[in-house]
Amino acid sequence: NGFVAGLYSYAPAPAAEAPQALRLAVLYGSQTGTAEGLARRLAKELKAAGHTVSMSSLEGYVPATLAAETYALFIVSTYGEGEAPDAAQPFYQQLCVEHFPLLGGLSYAVLALGDSHYEHFCQFGKELDAKLETLGGTRILPRVDSDVDVDAPFTGWKDAAVKKLRELASPPGMPASGEAVAATGETPAPGATAGHAAGPAHTRDNPYLSPLAEKRALTHPSSSKLTIHLDFAIEDSAIQYEAGDACGVVPQNHPRLVDAVLASLPFSGSEMVEIPRAGSMTLHEALLRRFAISRLSRKIISQYAAAAQCTKLTALLAPENQTDLEQYLHGRDLVDLLRECPDALQTPGDLVKMLSLLTPRLYSISSSPVAHPGRVHTTVSVVRWRAHDRDRGGVCSTLLADRIEIGDRLPIYIQANKKFRLPQDPKVPVIMIGPGTGIAPFRAFLHERRAIGATGKNWLFFGERSASTDFLYREELEGMQADGHLSRLDTAFSRDQEQKIYVQDLMMQNGQQLWGWLEEGAFLYVCGDASKMAKDVDRTLRRIIETQGKMPEEAAESYVQALKDNKRYQRDIY
Ligand code: 2AM
Repeated sequence: NGFVAGLYSYAPAPAAEAPQALRLAVLYGSQTGTAEGLARRLAKELKAAGHTVSMSSLEGYVPATLAAETYALFIVSTYGEGEAPDAAQPFYQQLCVEHFPLLGGLSYAVLALGDSHYEHFCQFGKELDAKLETLGGTRILPRVDSDVDVDAPFTGWKDAAVKKLRELASPPGMPASGEAVAATGETPAPGATAGHAAGPAHTRDNPYLSPLAEKRALTHPSSSKLTIHLDFAIEDSAIQYEAGDACGVVPQNHPRLVDAVLASLPFSGSEMVEIPRAGSMTLHEALLRRFAISRLSRKIISQYAAAAQCTKLTALLAPENQTDLEQYLHGRDLVDLLRECPDALQTPGDLVKMLSLLTPRLYSISSSPVAHPGRVHTTVSVVRWRAHDRDRGGVCSTLLADRIEIGDRLPIYIQANKKFRLPQDPKVPVIMIGPGTGIAPFRAFLHERRAIGATGKNWLFFGERSASTDFLYREELEGMQADGHLSRLDTAFSRDQEQKIYVQDLMMQNGQQLWGWLEEGAFLYVCGDASKMAKDVDRTLRRIIETQGKMPEEAAESYVQALKDNKRYQRDIY
């Protein structure tokens, strides 16, 4: 269950000294006064524990005020058909139109009050709890759902909150007020993430909620593409990486796409659904964060065709219609499918079991941990297309481009890439071939080699569409060329002249020197497109070895094999 609990496990680094007072907001949404009464008792106890507490009704409260808080404890009732108390409704309506990651800096807990005689028991508390997480908040305690007899559930939740906050107020590695800091299992104590080896490892299932420190376009506005540079701050985490590693980003779907999916279904989104290994959450939350909804697959078509008894879709699945199916899948998403044969699904569970999980996206890191301490840079090409009368885009790249701003936090982790490493010996020359975003790890390599004082020669082949609009990191690279750190910089701008020029053409033109470098012991690296570029580059490399080394094909083949065996030919292709 770590995936849910640990998803946004960020909390500010605690102070280095003794347990300190936390600034806490106690917020209540009350109809008859029960929640308010409990909030008073909670606030009193937290003050007695030394914290600075501000208590407030959700009446007149706004999401922006919440976003400025670090810790918030909610006690909320449910009324009517699972609704918020009247006084809390304007706040909740405003919260529902907010976007991730508004609450990236917030740690929170919810006590939900309700009456189990009603169908929508504690529904508002459940929705609020899920919504706060969706907006980037870190849940520090499991929600407690209390029946009308509130005393025991309240006391249990309050005691857990007091204990947890005491832990959070203690410096890392120090017992909280004389108690050992409990290994809390599912929810890593956020204080433990503060830059110490003992902190939890940030993995795909337990990413680090990293603040975005910088974002800028690397391409000119008039370019036919958009490639962006992102700079994530990791100094408050225990994250470590090496040049060549990748950064995993845990994305969310576009809220508009989620709304469009829900609009094509007879569900509101507030229905609770069970997600394998992640527990229960609202359908809206599941569509936003758990499932892939922006692309279709054969699997989902076949499941939906069966559920809808849709003849058009069933026909596409016949073996002889493979090309038609591929054409149908191209550029379409879940909304297109649901509109194809409407009214096929009876329950939210029918939908959920058809969908595949939304997976993290990996980007080669373009920074060096030595040259850029505390930072992770990535170089992202933004994927957008228009198909079937709608603008569409890549899940993660459009999130990064359009919906994340400086200061916002995003769940990231490091994916080690041990097969893509600089030579141990700093004197060894390196040849790097990285068109497009394939430049990313080579920018890391170049900065790393400069920072460690490596004296080996560096040769970079870079390619893009046009020099005037797409020369990624131009100033840096030309600067490195000017001061000699880059011994050679060869650029192939494919669309700047009538005949396409690609990086492999420049390799061929410089075959003699390239062969010379290989004979000197150079390591050769390729990063970027796997479908065409890497194959063409590989073919070119073999031809250079044949011609320059004056050897037949089989001998060149063994030469390449020896390079690979000695880790002198490494590829990071996708
Ligand atoms: P093109 O799009 O103009 O054809 C980064 O995307 C650069 O890689 C672009 O200049 C692109 O050129 C080029 N590219 C496309 N296919 C390639 C291939 N097979 N080998 C090398 N570069 C290629």
